[in-house]
Amino acid sequence: MSGLDSLGLQKDVSLAGLTTYKLGGPAAWFADVSDKAELESVGEAAVADRVPVFVLGRGSNVVVSDRGFPGLVLRLSGEFAHIEHTPESIVAGGAVPLPVLARSAVSEGRLGLEFFVGIPGSVGGAVRQNAGCHGSETKDVLVSADVFDLDSASWSVSDPTDLEMAYRHSSVRPRQVVAMARFRFTPGSPEEGEAKLREITRWRRDNQPGGTFNAGSVFKNPPGDSAGRIIDSIGLKGFAVGETRVSPRHANFFESGPGATAADLHRLVVEVRQRVAEATGVMLEPEILFIGEF
Ligand code: EPU
Repeated sequence: MSGLDSLGLQKDVSLAGLTTYKLGGPAAWFADVSDKAELESVGEAAVADRVPVFVLGRGSNVVVSDRGFPGLVLRLSGEFAHIEHTPESIVAGGAVPLPVLARSAVSEGRLGLEFFVGIPGSVGGAVRQNAGCHGSETKDVLVSADVFDLDSASWSVSDPTDLEMAYRHSSVRPRQVVAMARFRFTPGSPEEGEAKLREITRWRRDNQPGGTFNAGSVFKNPPGDSAGRIIDSIGLKGFAVGETRVSPRHANFFESGPGATAADLHRLVVEVRQRVAEATGVMLEPEILFIGEF
């Protein structure tokens, strides 16, 4: 029996419902990991079995292949879903949803993390991709992160410089797990923070296609411009492949409808990228992650 099988992990677990696009196939193995010891033993088994690993957060920036993921999908829960307010920082597990972190900080009169209310991802995902919105990025408020490297079975504590955090980028690799993060804050009034939370949620409601199955921005913004503005400028709002389309509301958001496949979405991304390159010379780089075979 393989290492993963001997742990009694779930097999062939559908991932569609765990992503915001609501599409894609199953994970060969799936592990909900609730503490450090479990993370270490699941990691050891995955390495022994030589299977690919993907660390899934809130599924808000991923497209899973229709054929699924032929390895281990690992998701944090339990102790990794807690927030602790210490005198000097806010300590959040990798599984904590960013809007929950934003609201928890504000309720304690700890300001500076309000922008997280507009990002439907997890703390671990935010560190890995240096998620941001409204002029702030994760690296601006991150003090350090505890990262577990599956291959070397070792822990490290890294700051944003160590992690090479830049616009929608960090050096965190797919086989590294951001288990915990410490954030700085500015003391202030909860009322001030709540006003900011309201402003950000209102802005999102007015400018982004809420209520649809999407994963936020599909492409990174090229330096000094906006991918949405460029895609819109060549008339691609509403452009569809199968049951997926460019949002009529915001051209850098793509939506999946009922019956959509990951292959449709992938073709839509490739087609939009090519049309933008032909029309403008700009090669857009996807921000969303494609998992499994495409
Ligand atoms: N625009 C258009 N047409 C469109 C979409 C946008 O002309 O269809 C124009 C807007 O009018 C605006 C400009 O393009 O003048 C920029 O658009 P927006 O303010 O919506 O911001 P964005 O650059 O598209 C970025 C982030 C978002 C983040 C917002 C708000 C990236 C790739 N996207 O979007 O992040 O929420 O700013 O701060 O950096 C994400 O990464 O998933 C994400 C949603």
